[in-house]
Amino acid sequence: MRTVRVNLGQRSYSVIIGNGVYLRLGELVADRARSHRVLLVSNPTVFALYGDGVVNSLQEAGLKVVTGLVPDGEEYKTLEQAQKLIDLAVENRFDRHAMVVALGGGVIGDLAGFVAAIYQRGIDFVQLPTTLLAHVDSSIGGKVAVNHPRAKNMIGAFYQPKIVIIDPAVLATLPPREFKNGMAEVVKYGIILDEGFFTWLEEELEPIIQREETIIAEAIYHSCSLKARVVEEDETEQGKRALLNLGHTFGHAVETLTGYQQYRHGEAVAMGIITACYLAESQGMMNTGEAQRVRELQQALGLPIQLPRLQPELIMQTMHQDKKMLAGRLRLVLPQGIGRAVIRDDIDDGAVLAAINRAMV
Ligand SMILES: NC(=O)c1ccc[n+]([C@@H]2O[C@H](COP(=O)([O-])OP(=O)(O)OC[C@H]3O[C@@H](n4cnc5c(N)ncnc54)[C@H](O)[C@@H]3O)[C@@H](O)[C@H]2O)c1
Repeated sequence: MRTVRVNLGQRSYSVIIGNGVYLRLGELVADRARSHRVLLVSNPTVFALYGDGVVNSLQEAGLKVVTGLVPDGEEYKTLEQAQKLIDLAVENRFDRHAMVVALGGGVIGDLAGFVAAIYQRGIDFVQLPTTLLAHVDSSIGGKVAVNHPRAKNMIGAFYQPKIVIIDPAVLATLPPREFKNGMAEVVKYGIILDEGFFTWLEEELEPIIQREETIIAEAIYHSCSLKARVVEEDETEQGKRALLNLGHTFGHAVETLTGYQQYRHGEAVAMGIITACYLAESQGMMNTGEAQRVRELQQALGLPIQLPRLQPELIMQTMHQDKKMLAGRLRLVLPQGIGRAVIRDDIDDGAVLAAINRAMV
């Protein structure tokens, strides 16, 4: 069992990583619980696999569990589902000392965290993430949200969990496409923050593809450590945390234009990363060999390395509507070689368009 500490003063917490650790949930949260009431939030897919183990573990530790199941899918990360969970908490007379436990991927983590943030002005919250994406990204850092019908993650808060419990063994049941989805974020950490880690991913490619437990656990631990350092430096995304959005502005445009149906978020990010690399190359920030390394690693992991055939001008237009744009200018995260990235708002649209065009062939 390994621990990553997220140091945020009074909001500090531990991320505990270990095979089999989910069955120790009760014991790990019992001494943090301020009452014996727990609202366990999950979806039917994940609950069928891990629900019994989690509920037993909580009950054995003397906690009383009410389970709220949300249908599986991004389309249920809504205010309406949050309201239903709040109704459940009210019906069961949960007070301010109750605790929310999120058992699931990023959708459940974001939704349950949002409920915890607003119920009685905030109750304790525990993350038990079950997808690779949630292990390495969404469970850490306290971004909680639901979607607005017209925009993703539009209603939310920064609300840190009390503890994050990551069990890499639960990835055994994760479908291959979801595994790749998470790997896109792992690769992203290497590009923006840590060249050594990127090289390690290249070297350990085979065991990663084979999902060897010790290697995956190491990749998770390293990714969590990198994310924790960024969040510590910039909890509410005033500066450095925005670097984690590498590939996202291009990716969001693709997701929006394809109605959020065709691509998983990580796939769209992977396409966006390639486009950002081409743009960085054209600005002299990355050399051809470095861009090639990124492309080869993503390809070997089964991630997309091309944008879909959409109208380049439409992609640009959609990017201009993205909420990450400040004062009318496109703000783009661009790699500076491998292991470093910067935010640029001075790139002209012609260069961006050229990179989009190049990423389509
Ligand atoms: N808060 C943040 O910082 C942050 C960061 C990145 C993404 N997100 C959010 O995360 C969400 C995407 O999360 P996701 O990629 O985890 O998707 P997800 O939560 O929809 O999970 C993907 C699928 O895998 C299933 N699943 C989960 N764990 C499983 C397991 N162990 N075995 C078998 N099936 C399992 C789920 O039921 C679902 O069908 C988006 O809503 C995105 O906005 C949030």
